[in-house]
Amino acid sequence: MVQLLEEIKNRKSGRAFSDEPVTEEMIDSILEAGRWAPSCSNTQAWEFVVLTDKETLSKAHEGLSRGNAWGKRAPVMVLVVTEQSGGCTSHGLPYYMMDVGLATENILLQAVHLGLLAHPTAGWDEQILRDMLNIPDEYRIATVIFIGYEGDFDKLDERTKEKERKPRTRKAFTDIVHRDGW
Ligand SMILES: Cc1cc2nc3c(=O)[nH]c(=O)nc-3n(C[C@H](O)[C@H](O)[C@H](O)COP(=O)(O)O)c2cc1C
Repeated sequence: MVQLLEEIKNRKSGRAFSDEPVTEEMIDSILEAGRWAPSCSNTQAWEFVVLTDKETLSKAHEGLSRGNAWGKRAPVMVLVVTEQSGGCTSHGLPYYMMDVGLATENILLQAVHLGLLAHPTAGWDEQILRDMLNIPDEYRIATVIFIGYEGDFDKLDERTKEKERKPRTRKAFTDIVHRDGW
């Protein structure tokens, strides 16, 4: 049996997508994983805008930053949208962002579990996406997740290949873990 920790570690923000379609059943299960994320006081400060229609995707591609042009090959885009006033307000912290962060990770992990690649991003023009998708003013786009099967590395441009070749790293366990006090 694949251990959850193994799947968590295997997840990567890859950029080489195939344009092979993802089934509706898979998309539904990915969104269902997002829907079941925990949230502060169960406020569930998330909404998901899913793009699969080719014409809609191609309009949305106009909003991507140049560095994220690799996302144009992905057959699914999920915008994780949040209402800034929608989360809980404990400690004066923006818990709505924690809610959407947890939903996002659930989405990423379910995609990995299904053998897909899923890449969260912040590199896009929010106004372009908001206008074309009629997202109400009180909502913000927290992240855009590209989802699809892993595709051909050789189809990437040189700069993107360079990013893909970089090893995935993390701060050392002992640098971030404090036992029995700071
Ligand atoms: C909120 C957020 C925004 C991100 N924005 C981008 C982006 O615009 N372009 C990109 O290539 N990767 C983006 N990433 C991916 C990160 O670069 C990546 O998660 C990080 O380097 C760790 O790599 P890993 O996800 O493969 O472990 C983003 C990730 C997060 C969580």
